[in-house]
Amino acid sequence: MSDNKVILTDQASGKSLELPVIKGTEGDPTLDIKQLNGGLGYFTYDPGYASTSSCSSAITFIDGGKGILRYRGYPIEQLAENSSFLEVAYLLMFGELPTRAEYEDFENDITNHTMVHEKLNTFINGFHYDAHPMAVLCGVMGSLAAFYHDSLDMNDPAQRLLAAKRMIAKMPTIAAASYRHHMGWPTAYPKNSLDYCSRFLDMMFSVPAENYEVSPVAAKALNLLFILHADHEQNASTSTVRLVGSTGANPYACVASGIAALWGPAHGGANEAVLTMLDEIGSVDRVPEFIARAKDKDDPFRLMGFGHRVYKNHDPRASIIRKACHEVLAELGVDDPLLGLAMELEKIALEDDYFVARKLYPNVDFYSGIIYKALGFPTSMFTVLFAIARTTGWVAQWLEQADNPGRIGRPRQVYTGETERNYVALDDRA
Ligand code: CMC
Repeated sequence: MSDNKVILTDQASGKSLELPVIKGTEGDPTLDIKQLNGGLGYFTYDPGYASTSSCSSAITFIDGGKGILRYRGYPIEQLAENSSFLEVAYLLMFGELPTRAEYEDFENDITNHTMVHEKLNTFINGFHYDAHPMAVLCGVMGSLAAFYHDSLDMNDPAQRLLAAKRMIAKMPTIAAASYRHHMGWPTAYPKNSLDYCSRFLDMMFSVPAENYEVSPVAAKALNLLFILHADHEQNASTSTVRLVGSTGANPYACVASGIAALWGPAHGGANEAVLTMLDEIGSVDRVPEFIARAKDKDDPFRLMGFGHRVYKNHDPRASIIRKACHEVLAELGVDDPLLGLAMELEKIALEDDYFVARKLYPNVDFYSGIIYKALGFPTSMFTVLFAIARTTGWVAQWLEQADNPGRIGRPRQVYTGETERNYVALDDRA
C-alpha cells in the first residue's frame, strides 16, 4: 500500500470517495477500487482489461515500455543464457533458484511422473486421426482428473504439488502421443534416462524401425524456447487458469482451460499462424501487398507475430529468439527461405509509419516457428510446444493463488439489452 490516495468526486451527487493506491515492488501504482461500488454506486468499464490488475503476484514482472521480463526477479536474458527449463520451472513454482540437491530431487520427481495411465493412451487413440493436437491436448488434460483422483483436492498443499508436478511431467508425453496418433505411429514411452527436452524429442520422433539419436542442438534449442515461453504474468491463458481456479475447480480442469485460451491465434496460436502467413506470402516481392492488407481496416488480416498488449518497445523474448534462429539453423545446416522472408517482413514493417505509430514490434511468436520447423515439428504442433512450456507458468500461478485464495472471479457488465417488458403469448405475437 502507498501513502498516496486518489479522491474521486461524483459531480452528480457531490459525494467523494478516497481510493487507496497499491504499490508493488515495481511497476505502475494501482488504484484499489474495491470500495467503489459500495461508496459511489459505480462499476468500472475496462473491456480487454487494459487498465485492470486482476490479482497481486510475485512471480513474473514485465515493464512493457522498457522491454523488461523477469521471472522471480531474474532477467529473462540471464535465464535464457544459463538456466535449464526444469530449473526455471522450479524457480517459478518455489520462488528461488534450487540448490543442487533441491534441483536433483525436483528433476527426479518430474522424471518419475512422465508416464501416463495406459488407459489414457486408449483415450488418445479414440480421437480421429486428423484431430488437431491442441484439441487432443485440451481434452486429455481435462481428463487427467478422471485418472488421478489422489490430487484433486486443492485445499491440500501436498495434493496441489503432486498435481503440479504431474502436469509438468506428463505434458510432453501427451503432446508426443497426440502427434504419433496422427502419424499412425505406435506409442513411444518416456525414456527417463534422458533430460526433459531430449526425452520429448525422443517421444516425438523415434520410430521402432530405426535408431534415433536426439540432436543436442535440437534439445538445447527447445530448452531455450521453453524457458522463454514458461510464464508471462497475467496473459489471457493464465488469467483463465486463475479465473477457473477461483471457483475451486480441480487443477487439471484449470490447466485445460488455459490450453483452450492459449489456442486462439491472438495468443499462443499465433506461432502456427505466423508460419501459415509466411507460406502464404511466399516471396519477398509479395511483402508490400501483405503489409498493405495488415494496414487496411476493412481487411481482417493482421501481421501475425506482430504487436503485443504490454510490450511497446520490443519483446525481449523476440530479440533472443531472432538471434537463436540464425544460430540454430546454421548449426543444423538448414537453409530455410522463410527466415529471409521473415527478416524482410520485419524490416519493412518496422520502417512503416502504421507499425511505428502503434508501437507494433515482432513478438515471441514471430521467429519461434522457424526454429520449430527446423527441428522437424509440423506447424500444427507449434502451439502445443508453447503449451508444454507455459504449463509451468500456469501451475506456478495456480499454486500461488491456491496458497492465498481470494473471492471467486466474477466481473460485472454494462447491460445494453431490453428493459423490463411483459411476456406475450405465442399466438398473440406479430
Ligand atoms: N497487424 C496489424 N495491425 C495490428 C496488429 C497486427 N499484428 N496488432 C495490432 N494492430 C493494430 C490494431 O489494428 C490497432 O489499430 P488501431 O488503433 O488503428 O485500431 C492497434 O494496432 C492496437 O491493436 P489492439 O488490437 O488494440 O491491441 P491489443 O493489445 O488488444 O492486441 C495483440 C494485442 C497481440 C492481440 C495484437 O497485436 C495482435 O492481434 N497481434 C497478432 C497476433 C499475435 O501475434 N499474437 C501473439 C501475441 S504474443 C504471444 C502470446 O501472447 O501468446
